[in-house]
Amino acid sequence: MSVVFLNQKFIPSEEAKISPMDRGFLFGDGVYEVLPSYDGEIIGFDLHIDRLKTNMSAVGISLSWTHQKWLEICKTLIKKNGFGSLGVYLHVSRGPEPVRSHSYADGIDPTVFVFSFKIPPEQIVCKSQIVPYKVSTSLDLRWSRCQIKATSLLGNVMHLQQGQQNGFNETLLFNDKDELREGSTCNVYIVKNGVVITPPLDNHILPGITRCILLDLLLKDGSIGVEERIISKEEVFSATEVWITSSSKGVIPVVEVDGKLINDGEVGDIWLLAQKIYSAGKKNY
Ligand code: PDD
Repeated sequence: MSVVFLNQKFIPSEEAKISPMDRGFLFGDGVYEVLPSYDGEIIGFDLHIDRLKTNMSAVGISLSWTHQKWLEICKTLIKKNGFGSLGVYLHVSRGPEPVRSHSYADGIDPTVFVFSFKIPPEQIVCKSQIVPYKVSTSLDLRWSRCQIKATSLLGNVMHLQQGQQNGFNETLLFNDKDELREGSTCNVYIVKNGVVITPPLDNHILPGITRCILLDLLLKDGSIGVEERIISKEEVFSATEVWITSSSKGVIPVVEVDGKLINDGEVGDIWLLAQKIYSAGKKNY
């Protein structure tokens, strides 16, 4: 039985209950974070809490908890759930109101829900052990505020589900000019002429914490070039490597896009080098 944190209390997951009038339930009116942790060590804690605070203020949810308070909740939850490789999900919804109305009143008490879930063990730094992804592509049919990590994820859910129903692990999303944005649950990269390229941040992609840490580590290491620029669909198909990143998955190589092999279906050398750099440095964030 797992332990969760709901409205200031650690309780067994079976006892967790929220009001059906909670705006998170009725409207998806909330924001969230997923933090990776390995044997109690959380990766990118401050970056995640900074992003949570940015998102709360973007949607007008007031909750002035300090980093220290969030840290204590995360650490206690990880301990109560037995350590290991855990994702920690932090959810702040605007809270319950007596009447359903799209607009909201001031001063609602936000609902804070935190739980943990198993994630794959610490990243494998070996080509033969990593399970690479096969992905599909789609026109991005989500909204134009994807920089906010909002709990209203129906657009992402539909994109991922459609890809998975057709046997793919992920769906890469493109704008109407066939320019790459991100995946339905991850950021995306290509490798071309030995350089790692990823789309620049804007309101159509999430500023991923794994992206932030990976790019910073690659820039500091200096052995692989890094570029943030627009990537066309043709460049994805002709790339020597394609990768995706997220907090719960790490850095995963992609060997097939819409049935077309990338790097002859083999995990690439640049991925292996980047994976080594990421694994060695990620705990410093
Ligand atoms: N998803 N883009 C989207 C749409 C995402 O949902 C995610 C992460 C990312 C990568 O962000 P980060 O590196 O901060 O995890 C990019 C999380 C893990 C989820 O929703 O479960």
